[in-house]
Amino acid sequence: MQSIRLLEEICGTRAFIVSDSVMEKLGYLQTAVDYLGKAGISSVTFTEVRPDPDVKLIADGMKLYLESGADVLVAIGGGSSIDAAKGILYFASKMDQPSGGEFKRPLFIAIPSTSGTGSEVTNFSVITSEEGKVCIVDEFITPDIAILDSTCIQHVPQRVVVDTGIDVLVHAIEAYVSTMATDFTDALAEKAIRLLFENLEILHRDVKDSVARDHVQNASCMAGMAFTNANLGITHSLAHALGGTFHLPHGRSNALMLSAVMEYNAELIGSANGYAAERYAKLAELLNLPARTRREGVVSFIREVNRLKKALGIEDGIRALGVDPAEFENALENMADAALADRCTPTNPRQPSKDELIQIYRKSY
Ligand SMILES: NC(=O)c1ccc[n+]([C@@H]2O[C@H](COP(=O)([O-])OP(=O)(O)OC[C@H]3O[C@@H](n4cnc5c(N)ncnc54)[C@H](O)[C@@H]3O)[C@@H](O)[C@H]2O)c1
Ligand SMILES: [Zn+2]
Repeated sequence: MQSIRLLEEICGTRAFIVSDSVMEKLGYLQTAVDYLGKAGISSVTFTEVRPDPDVKLIADGMKLYLESGADVLVAIGGGSSIDAAKGILYFASKMDQPSGGEFKRPLFIAIPSTSGTGSEVTNFSVITSEEGKVCIVDEFITPDIAILDSTCIQHVPQRVVVDTGIDVLVHAIEAYVSTMATDFTDALAEKAIRLLFENLEILHRDVKDSVARDHVQNASCMAGMAFTNANLGITHSLAHALGGTFHLPHGRSNALMLSAVMEYNAELIGSANGYAAERYAKLAELLNLPARTRREGVVSFIREVNRLKKALGIEDGIRALGVDPAEFENALENMADAALADRCTPTNPRQPSKDELIQIYRKSY
């Protein structure tokens, strides 16, 4: 069954749907409108979302949302659409209400079309402001219902499969080594990592492979559940600042930072014997890679991640994406400041100094 059909079982009177023009063109938006119609719910659509939603977009959407009087909020699209809906919900709740009364929280439904940010199950929203990417982290914006419908991800371009798939891997790895990891988040992260190593290359070779597509979609949601509870680490902090400065996709920015961050976290030039090293070595064991010592496990896991990145056609470094060396050097101070202040930094297994963050950027260049 197409699970987007579950929209016909929703209770409400008016839906505000946040999406983008691609979802509209592919017909997913109309499908959602039709199923909501069967439930007696009329829809107002907002399809202005662009990748990495910014403050102006949120303000425009919020105005229309408040005017719509909706009691159901639906986000359908990639992380950008879901995060935009979260931003609209968050800021709408802080405004004076057109009715003059209290803000009434709508039923919030998220339908992801990428695999993915896991945003359909997280309390995170990433908004681009003049200062760069800012994370709102608040339970209030966690969707009430997530609908995973793999037919909504069947037309994802190969490059987006790679960017979003590697983002899932980084979510799972960072949740696994987070200082807030628990048995529950470990279970979700381990399963997500296993599913990714078994299916992401297959999906990259053939985006029509429906079995691999389902597994990667499930991994995306599980990794989202893991990190909404355990939080993330400095791969994301560094990637937020890098992607915001040089307009690189979120997943690709993460992919470019991940290896140097793992070497830093595991203290590979050093004892390679701490908490993060132990966790990466456990992941090597999970994937049946050589791990007779902690160091060997760390090296095996990092090598395996690098092998996967290469197989997916990810560039060797930031430079290969066309970032100018002088512009990169000029941006380092500001990017490191932003990464240090990022909401993902406090749960990284090793607390970095600004200089160490700059070194990680240089190593990843
Ligand atoms: N909230 C969170 O927990 C969280 C976590 C990680 C990243 N993010 C944020 O999410 C955003 C990135 O989201 P994303 O990686 O899902 O990409 P996206 O939503 O920006 O989409 C990327 C491109 O793919 C297209 N696309 C999406 N679904 C498609 C489909 N089914 N078929 C064809 N084209 C499709 C979009 O139109 C867009 O052009 C960034 O702003 C990032 O910072 C949020
Ligand atoms: Zn991410």
